[in-house]
Amino acid sequence: MSTTRILLSQSVIQTRVRELGRELSEHYAGKHPIFLGVMNGALFFLTDLLRAVDLDEVEPSTIRVASYAGAQSTGVLHGLDGLGDSFRGRHVLILDDILETGLTLSSLAKAIRKAGAADVKTCVLLEKPAARVRPIHADWVGFHIADEFVVGYGLDYNGRYRNLRQVRVLENVE
Ligand code: IMP
Ligand code: MG
Repeated sequence: MSTTRILLSQSVIQTRVRELGRELSEHYAGKHPIFLGVMNGALFFLTDLLRAVDLDEVEPSTIRVASYAGAQSTGVLHGLDGLGDSFRGRHVLILDDILETGLTLSSLAKAIRKAGAADVKTCVLLEKPAARVRPIHADWVGFHIADEFVVGYGLDYNGRYRNLRQVRVLENVE
């Protein structure tokens, strides 16, 4: 059996999400941004942040890309074809669960810029210090964590543990 150890409690996460909400409210004041959650990992982060910002006109949106199989990044990103015109001229904030190699965020940001967005920024719940394949930094980071495999609050291990309210370290991975 795999076991888990709590890294970030529900209240620690919620406090930080409210802080990020205040910063994003200031940054996007008077604008009509798209908050684009990378599914499924940013499911809770997106919905909690939407409720934490004091902005009247945020447009929630989601996109599905995948580069992971099990606990290993495959380095290939799927799901970026056919973005169409929905980002043209828009301020887009990409929300992801975790920045590790940077492959997901950099490919996605590039594709959305190419689709004509006026501005693309990134916000991640977690950032790991792992070696960056692409030189990318998120504009907003919830928590910097150690190089451990984490699950919960949207993060999964092969589809499991996503619904946990805390972020936990997965130990004894099987
Ligand atoms: P990157 O493309 O290597 O930056 O990885 C980003 C994606 O990898 C995230 O959106 C997650 O889906 C997945 N990922 C990276 N590290 C972890 C982890 O510790 N737990 C669960 N998923 C992870
Ligand atoms: Mg993911």
